[in-house]
Amino acid sequence: MPRKPEILKPTSESLTLAADTLREGNLVAFPTETVYGLGGDATNEHAIAQIYAAKGRPQFNPLIVHIAKKEDAAKYVVWNEAAEKVANQFWPGPLTLVLPRAPQSPVVLLASAGLTTIAIRCPDHQTARALIREAGLPLAAPSANASGQLSPTHAQHVAESLGGNVDLILDGGSCEIGVESTVLDLTSDTPTILRHGGVTKEMLINLLVDVREAAHDENAPKSPGMLLSHYAPNLPIRLNATSAKDDEAYLVFADDSGLKGGATRSNLSISGDLTEAAANLFSMLHDLDHEHLTSIAVAPIPHEGLGAAINDRLERAAV
Ligand code: TXA
Ligand code: MG
Repeated sequence: MPRKPEILKPTSESLTLAADTLREGNLVAFPTETVYGLGGDATNEHAIAQIYAAKGRPQFNPLIVHIAKKEDAAKYVVWNEAAEKVANQFWPGPLTLVLPRAPQSPVVLLASAGLTTIAIRCPDHQTARALIREAGLPLAAPSANASGQLSPTHAQHVAESLGGNVDLILDGGSCEIGVESTVLDLTSDTPTILRHGGVTKEMLINLLVDVREAAHDENAPKSPGMLLSHYAPNLPIRLNATSAKDDEAYLVFADDSGLKGGATRSNLSISGDLTEAAANLFSMLHDLDHEHLTSIAVAPIPHEGLGAAINDRLERAAV
């Protein structure tokens, strides 16, 4: 029998339980004014890997980081004038801002799928903000549905879509807006709408004058995150390497006793657990990226489960 998630009305007790659950690195679905989010600690790689596993996507999609108040944004992203303007008007609310990652941002690279930018928003929902405050964490939260299904606007939708893949659902009733937030890219001179949502273009034009729409651009990527600049190591990456040279770093997976070579080695998951491997992926690539080596050799990684997303990211980093 698959495990069932616990569904609780938001009370001070259930919020404390939910905040503890998040601090332990586990997942909590919570209501926002747009749709329910599947929340995890944005500073914890294992929590983020669990989010991707629960959603069952073949790729790591960049996630939105949720904060309780505008003033917290600068800890995670490089804030700018345009951001200040729109946040003053629309936060808390259904507007997500894409901004450069702050140099000391504690948000793990896996949460932004390795992008050099972070999407951030302050939701207009009491339960969401109370949860973020009580946990004391920025929460990464995609819509709380399995990949390919509709975004959930009731606690029951979440339970039906995610089942035992979420530990706890805070039931805040139905979501007022029911469509996701607008995603606005503020990393270039012209603000660009990457996804239409609760805040319309007309509302934004009043404030920003010139607003572009990526969705109407034929060359725009379907998934906005994917063509933007990704974290990639300085060293070239060599995939499906069944051995490594003495001047290469070697990123391996599961039992590596039969694999030869490598100046230094990191194992994504000795036990062969792909969720653990996803959690370690970006930080291990980062640590192996040493100037005195020639490349990073990566051992074959199975394509099942989160392995598909891991291979997808490695292939992008390899070009
Ligand atoms: O209303 C919402 O935004 C809901 C609630 C839970 O807050 N969340 C939501 O998350 O819809 P999700 O993961 O289903 O959609 C996030 C969108 C995706 O289109 C993703 O590509 C984009 O935001 N995104 C996230 N980070 C990005 C980044 N750094 N650059 C560009 N796009 C980004
Ligand atoms: Mg979604």
